[in-house]
Amino acid sequence: MKVLGVSGSPIRNSNTDRALKLALESTGLETEFIKLTDYTIEPCRACLGCRKTGQCVIKDDGFELTEKVKESDALIIAGYTPYSTLDSRTKAFIERLYPNRHGIAHMKGKPGGAIVTYCIPKSIPMFPASQNGVDAIKYYMMEEEMDYVGDVQILGNMLGYLPTIKS
Ligand SMILES: Cc1cc2nc3c(=O)[nH]c(=O)nc-3n(C[C@H](O)[C@H](O)[C@H](O)COP(=O)(O)O)c2cc1C
Repeated sequence: MKVLGVSGSPIRNSNTDRALKLALESTGLETEFIKLTDYTIEPCRACLGCRKTGQCVIKDDGFELTEKVKESDALIIAGYTPYSTLDSRTKAFIERLYPNRHGIAHMKGKPGGAIVTYCIPKSIPMFPASQNGVDAIKYYMMEEEMDYVGDVQILGNMLGYLPTIKS
């Protein structure tokens, strides 16, 4: 059984990366850590070409990562939360996974989990960053009928990111 972990954090050895690596290690299974900044992934073109072939028309690294996800037995996706939602790199990766649902539902029944870092404290309810981030990952996994195991939300790097909130 192989567990694939994918981090959308651009920072080397970031909170997001370290939390993901810890989660992968704790499975005691064969794992692979993927750092999305090491790959070039064009966003989904919404052409629906994959509905006919089960494969993406874009032959970049996203194509290979989609195959890798298809071959994995479990998936953990980790991202951070600029402007209180999931970061665009992680979201673009998720959208490129659309081919894996056609023909055979390749992800159906596979365990999946989410790790999300954030900096705006949960005591400020108007910015539910971590929950928005988790939901973006969770809804992907639910739509693919994966076995959503759960999430970890981590108060990460706050330096310089906290907004000035006017009352
Ligand atoms: C451009 C930018 C905008 C951010 N906006 C938010 C935000 O709206 N809400 C939030 O909770 N965190 C925000 N953050 C902070 C990150 O979510 C937080 O620092 C997180 O810990 C980053 O992941 P890392 O620690 O793995 O580097 C922002 C970070 C960046 C770079």
